[in-house]
Amino acid sequence: MRFIGKTGELEKLNADVIVRGVFEQAGAGKPQESSLPQVVLNEFDGKLGNSRLFYSADGKQPAQLVLGLGPEHDFDLKAMRKAGTALVEATRSGKFKRVGLDLDCFVTPRNGANVTAQCLTEVAMLGHYTYQKYLTEDKPSHLREVIFVCKDKADTKQAKLGAATGRIIAGGANFARDLQNHPGNYLTPRKLGNIAKSLAGKHKLRCKVMGNTEIAAANMQALLAVAQGSKEPARFIILEHGSPKASGGTYVFVGKGMTFDSGGISIKPGNRMEEMKFDMSGAAAVLGAMQAVAELALPFHVVGLIPSAENMPSAAAVKPGDIIKTSAGTTVEVINTDAEGRLILADALTYAKKYKPNGVINLATLTGACVVALGSHASGLMGNDQDLIEAVKLASERAGEPAWQLPLWDEYYEDIKGDYADIKNSVGRPAGAITAGAFLGTFTKDYAWAHLDIAGTAWTIQNKGYFGKGGTGVGVRLLIQFLRNRAAATGKQR
Ligand code: BES
Ligand code: MN
Ligand code: ZN
Repeated sequence: MRFIGKTGELEKLNADVIVRGVFEQAGAGKPQESSLPQVVLNEFDGKLGNSRLFYSADGKQPAQLVLGLGPEHDFDLKAMRKAGTALVEATRSGKFKRVGLDLDCFVTPRNGANVTAQCLTEVAMLGHYTYQKYLTEDKPSHLREVIFVCKDKADTKQAKLGAATGRIIAGGANFARDLQNHPGNYLTPRKLGNIAKSLAGKHKLRCKVMGNTEIAAANMQALLAVAQGSKEPARFIILEHGSPKASGGTYVFVGKGMTFDSGGISIKPGNRMEEMKFDMSGAAAVLGAMQAVAELALPFHVVGLIPSAENMPSAAAVKPGDIIKTSAGTTVEVINTDAEGRLILADALTYAKKYKPNGVINLATLTGACVVALGSHASGLMGNDQDLIEAVKLASERAGEPAWQLPLWDEYYEDIKGDYADIKNSVGRPAGAITAGAFLGTFTKDYAWAHLDIAGTAWTIQNKGYFGKGGTGVGVRLLIQFLRNRAAATGKQR
């Protein structure tokens, strides 16, 4: 998909459909825009999310799509994404290949041409994403080109910049979605390691992939314990962008990479177990973010860490009651082999220390309890540094991937204390998302840390806004927004 900026008249464009937005007139229930045909003005209310599609009488002119934007003073990025969803829905059928969009309609004092073009580019790319690797018949081809048209040359220039940024960020998210949607028999930990290596080759990232021997040498017994029930060996993936001396400092992103989570000996019920191929969504987010970090050449040292394994029951599998010693030295009693994410993350979060990071953010499809708490509308957010948590929350909202904080009080750390070992990996249903957070927090004492539980947001089982069924790439836009905010704060925005 191409995104182009042009200065001039919409009518002169060679496009299949021309898109405009109209605000809802406060009180009157009529749109304000006057450059639209009278029939549109009479009939269309401009309510956010509504849209109308008109074809020219002779079929020789491009079709016209009008998007309702709601009241102008409420038109923020969230509203823009909602309006963009109507654009996605109208163009999904594949009947329009070239879209001309009047960007001026969407630009407000709050959001200039740059941010607006970025936002709409992301929505278009995310909305038109499909996963077709295993379909033997091609689905209809999609939108090829979006032309952002501005009256003002300077705006066009900004629109081009914004579109380029949006293309990179949504490209990272869609890359993550491909990884998520791959079935477990294709995307094994080994495959994930190889994909990380080829990503590094393409984007000048440094990459190291550890196998069982090196993982054992690093004392990551928790990662090995989770992997030991499977024929697929574990991997520990390290990706690195920029120099440790980078002006912006060092940030470490850690992603849970369970390529399939059967639950192990504490096996899961069969119903919807196939969705546990998505249990590597944290890893996907880290890989997608690393791609975008490299393409945007962000002025930071960014390290991606991915512990990856397959959680299976077998004669060799870890058992309830087993005690393992993590690389931090902390001992853990495995109460439930299905609470495996926190085990592999314990070793990865311990490894993060050696980078002396300014901040560590981990992403994991960690608990069903988080889905109970927040549903699919927000990721769970916890941590040990309120400034970092606030920064993640701010970025999450701006990026369209909301996260909501849950408390991590000392009492929850008391809850996970063990009898036979220092801590236990499962303590039952109450506050399940938080006790999992406290488990991770046990291993993050040496740095500022934020934890995102993306169990409810990482994939969708039906169309949701501009997302089709499957992986959402959640976390990629958030992490990039987080870094870009940090860069802006230190005057290094690009
Ligand atoms: N990967 C799951 C969490 C999950 C479940 C994510 C459903 C998305 C949808 C995780 O490994 C898990 O099984 N967690 C257990 C923890 C429990 C045993 C303490 C859970 O949530 O039931
Ligand atoms: Mn599990
Ligand atoms: Zn899991």
